[in-house]
Amino acid sequence: MNVLMISPGYPADMPEFTRGLAECGARVIGVGDSPAGGLPDLVKRSLDEYIEVRSLWDSAHVIGALRERLRGRSLERIECLWEPGIMLAAELREALGVEGLTIGEAHRFRDKEAMKQALDAAGIRTPKHVATDSIAGCWDAANEIGFPVIIKPIAGAGSADTYRVNDADELRAVLPRLRHVPTVSVEEFVDGEEYTFDTITIDGRIAYYNVAWYRPRPLIARNNEWISPQVIALRDVDDPSLAGGIEMGRQVIDALGFGTGFTHMEWYRKADGEVVFGEIGARPPGAHHVDQMKFACDFDVFRAWASAVTGGWLEQKIERRYNVATIYKRAKGVGRITRIEGADELQKRFGEHVCWNTLLPPGTPRRDWKKTLVSDGFIMLRHPDLAETLKMADAVGSELNLFAE
Ligand SMILES: Nc1ncnc2c1ncn2[C@@H]1O[C@H](COP(=O)(O)OP(=O)(O)O)[C@@H](O)[C@H]1O
Ligand SMILES: [Mg+2]
Repeated sequence: MNVLMISPGYPADMPEFTRGLAECGARVIGVGDSPAGGLPDLVKRSLDEYIEVRSLWDSAHVIGALRERLRGRSLERIECLWEPGIMLAAELREALGVEGLTIGEAHRFRDKEAMKQALDAAGIRTPKHVATDSIAGCWDAANEIGFPVIIKPIAGAGSADTYRVNDADELRAVLPRLRHVPTVSVEEFVDGEEYTFDTITIDGRIAYYNVAWYRPRPLIARNNEWISPQVIALRDVDDPSLAGGIEMGRQVIDALGFGTGFTHMEWYRKADGEVVFGEIGARPPGAHHVDQMKFACDFDVFRAWASAVTGGWLEQKIERRYNVATIYKRAKGVGRITRIEGADELQKRFGEHVCWNTLLPPGTPRRDWKKTLVSDGFIMLRHPDLAETLKMADAVGSELNLFAE
């Protein structure tokens, strides 16, 4: 079977997904706008063919290039696991007559207003929401919904341009900063814990899922540099406190008519137990959450996705063995990393539980912590017991320190 993989080399996880497809026996054709010579080796090995286009963001051009290169050869699937390419994939499917998410369906995964309207119609609890493209509209929405509210782009990512607004003064201060965002969503602020519900779904049936817990909530993590944000892939998904979110996840996938592939949903649980929808993407989560899934169950999650896409089944038996914590570190200071404190001591205490360490070595320039979810690197560790996992994660958060100058 011929599978077209959009942007097979970028971002970080794409080479592994591309490998998965090849290992499952697909003939993988890559399309991207980066030069073939610069593709990661794993991608070069996994692709049968690479179609280099001038720009991935000119869909008419991409469609033309594909028609010319394919010359009547059929494609069975068109895959994109990268948020900015979700609409492109849908456009290519419609132009080339390939099954999978249509433009209308994909739109409901991209446009947070269309998404919530579809879910409201299905009776799913979303935050109160109003989409608007004017300042007056923001004021009306805030007054109607009641402070505090969240204001965010209807097609954002990574908490960019997202603000919690507690009162009229704050709204006045925030509005000028949103001038470059064409349409915003004003939402009821939902206070609570925040989780993911990630799936590999096959023909609308959830074949595998993962629940991860954000500590703290992404918006707080993004606005406070001193925090070492944690994401915990939870082993005990049968914990009653997660049942409402998992059930909501099933309903959301149903309501949006998702067929086959990866999904990444976020949901909130309020102190009173009420579960509220956050958002959903028709793709896996980023920031190496997919690797967390791999370490939680010791399985090849990339290949599992590929086997779902190419064969309509999961070839591996999946058993949840560990909680996996990722702790993203941000150096203190600006410039280059000069030293890392606490690493030896922590290594002695629980090095055996660490599965991955990507901390930037001394001498490397710091990353822009607002722009990257992986910060200046992370520690990923795992343990069968959740309390132990959290204890180790908190120790990495507070006792491991990177310095830069
Ligand atoms: N209605 C809301 N109530 C409370 N917090 C919210 C709300 N909407 C967004 N947030 C916070 O902002 C973060 C980013 O918003 P989200 O809708 O997930 O967009 P993104 O695509 O940027 O991840 C969320 O993870 C959450 O912490
Ligand atoms: Mg989000």
